[in-house]
Amino acid sequence: MLVSATEMIKKAHEGHYAIGAFNINNLEWIKSILTAAEEAKSPLIMEVSEGAVKYMCGYKNVVDMVRNVHDSMNITVPVALHLDHGSYEGAKKAIEAGFTSVMFDGSHYPFEENLAKSKEIIELGHAHGCSVECEVGGIGGSEDGVTSSGELADVNECKTIAGLGVDMLAAGIGNIHGIYPANWKGLNFERLQEIQAAVDGKPLVLHGGTGIPAEQVKKAITLGVSKVNVNTELQLAFQAATREYVLAGKDIDKAKKGFDPRKLLKPGAEAITAKTIELMEEFGSYQKAE
Ligand code: 13P
Repeated sequence: MLVSATEMIKKAHEGHYAIGAFNINNLEWIKSILTAAEEAKSPLIMEVSEGAVKYMCGYKNVVDMVRNVHDSMNITVPVALHLDHGSYEGAKKAIEAGFTSVMFDGSHYPFEENLAKSKEIIELGHAHGCSVECEVGGIGGSEDGVTSSGELADVNECKTIAGLGVDMLAAGIGNIHGIYPANWKGLNFERLQEIQAAVDGKPLVLHGGTGIPAEQVKKAITLGVSKVNVNTELQLAFQAATREYVLAGKDIDKAKKGFDPRKLLKPGAEAITAKTIELMEEFGSYQKAE
């Protein structure tokens, strides 16, 4: 059974580690990430962007697919299915379809509107036993057509949204989606500390997990980050392993049927599993599932 992220995030916050939230795209991603969580005995947040939901034929199909794969693999660790950067309509659809966790990203609205819509989604989510993440201040970079110039979240706005009873809060602290530019200044720990103090111990979420040096991620976790989002890094792991397979000419080996899609996609899928386990160790969730 898929679970809400509330309990696992609360425990992670108390235990000073973080749960990795890994973006999925298709069957290979689902299987590989579930395999990693089971092997690492780690709680897991499997997240999906609205673009990937569309690619995967809609909310209902994503819920059915993840549930069925999860059950058929006899997964024993806690797993939440989470909507990443949900729109107001998307978050509602995901909750109705059976997602166990959603992010409502209202950071592009004027604050009052973000607040009103966040309140509504939190109430709807909680009525369905679904955990809710909201966002204050844009996360830089671009993901699935959602772009933001990136900013440091306003501490008072964080406090106000946290007061709505949100389960976890994404707040910009200099992090961006995708590859970090060479002149990136790093995470702003001062702002992170100010936010954590203002939100009364509410768990915080670090977006843009790809490419942040491990020491900075670990420091952010000690300062209150309990969920780290990773998307691009798994895509790169998949791409590198697939490229190696193709460049070695294995796909054109007719005798070994290297063109069989299950063979062609296998190195990439295994690379996703290996990278996910590595990140679970880095975030400290390794062996934390009961
Ligand atoms: P990266 O693609 O930079 O890992 O960011 C993922 C993310 O924050 C998803 O919301």
